[in-house]
Amino acid sequence: MNKVFLNLGRQPLANSFLKDIGKNTLRNEFFYNLKICFNTKNYLVSIDKPVNPKKQYTDKYAHRASESKTMRSAFKKVAKKLIKRFRPKKIMEIGSNDGVFLKNFNKKSVIAVEPCKNLASLTKKLFKTYDEFWNLKLAKKLIKQKKGEIDLIFSANTISHIPNLKETFEGIFNILSDDGVFVIEDPSLLKVLQNNSYDQFYDEHVYVFSTISVNNIVKDYGLRLFDVENLPTHGGSNRYYICKENGKYKNTSRLKKVIKSEISYKLHKIKSYLEFSKRVNISKRRLFNLIKKLKKKNKKIISYGATYKSTTVFNYCNFNSKMIDYVTDTTHNKQGKYTPGTHIKIISPEYGMNDTVDYAFLGAWNFKKEIFKKEKNFFKRGGKFITHVPRVMTLTK
Ligand code: TYD
Repeated sequence: MNKVFLNLGRQPLANSFLKDIGKNTLRNEFFYNLKICFNTKNYLVSIDKPVNPKKQYTDKYAHRASESKTMRSAFKKVAKKLIKRFRPKKIMEIGSNDGVFLKNFNKKSVIAVEPCKNLASLTKKLFKTYDEFWNLKLAKKLIKQKKGEIDLIFSANTISHIPNLKETFEGIFNILSDDGVFVIEDPSLLKVLQNNSYDQFYDEHVYVFSTISVNNIVKDYGLRLFDVENLPTHGGSNRYYICKENGKYKNTSRLKKVIKSEISYKLHKIKSYLEFSKRVNISKRRLFNLIKKLKKKNKKIISYGATYKSTTVFNYCNFNSKMIDYVTDTTHNKQGKYTPGTHIKIISPEYGMNDTVDYAFLGAWNFKKEIFKKEKNFFKRGGKFITHVPRVMTLTK
């Protein structure tokens, strides 16, 4: 049974950056109600009423995975590791973005699945790319084209985006070779609760998985979770290793340990989520009050990184362009646009991170290390960052 535990209010699509803020554009801006629920039976945490994926994954999808140095090297590292451990002959990626992961394999042995046409067109020249949503129909089409029996299916930050888990896992089961491995990377629910990072909830994250929920769900589709790894990416993610029920892999002691730690944190109890919800409410009040207080002192506050996560924070905490002067972001196709719902201008850091800035809200808090290294001069001249993770505070280094 699904129980709603968190209401993040009226939200726009996290990546619907606006080209202009004229009357017409604003009239057409799409909003929905972001409520998060917990399934008391299989422990799955999900958006109560997900948005239609056709509204989200369009030919204008902004996120480019290879733009971040951290992500480029993370994908290279995992590709090497998976080759060494499983020696796969046929590899498929679901949600291949701009090919940052698959580029590390032999081009002839890979299949890319990417529904955003602007991204798929980037990899079509490099390897076989299907610009479609992952579902049972596509799985059957691939099998018909003799592209089945895949040894390694990889999917980072995508499975949690697909509302229909039944189709997803049935498709995987059909196309995976008998001893094949399905590897998923997605944000960790345990980390979200520990870090109070409620901004991991936005329209695209239909699910925020825990190990105990993945362990339960895959069983319904003839699959078995046999290993899990905790990762630092996206503020704390998990890499799940799944095989067929009778696959040759033994459940690892690491998996047992992670399940134990999630149970001891009570991720299987609704009470933990209700308490989290209270902490989120407090975080909202503190962040809003801190910015108001600094504004009264005439401080200039900007936001660093026009992230999807920021869309949740900005809209939930009722930010506006009187509180945040502008947002800086390195992504070219975000620059010159406006933030979804709150309509704050996005500019390049070269222009934006100048001597007039007193405080920068860390929208891309998951890249804190990379950013702090880059912004040594900002700190040197007395600039401060503001973060809400794990609690609202200012950071001087
Ligand atoms: P991302 O981590 O993908 O977060 P989300 O999934 O919430 O959107 O986005 C990080 C954003 O931050 C991306 O638009 C690039 C931007 N960014 C900077 O502007 N400067 C930086 O130094 C880094 C690391 C990221």
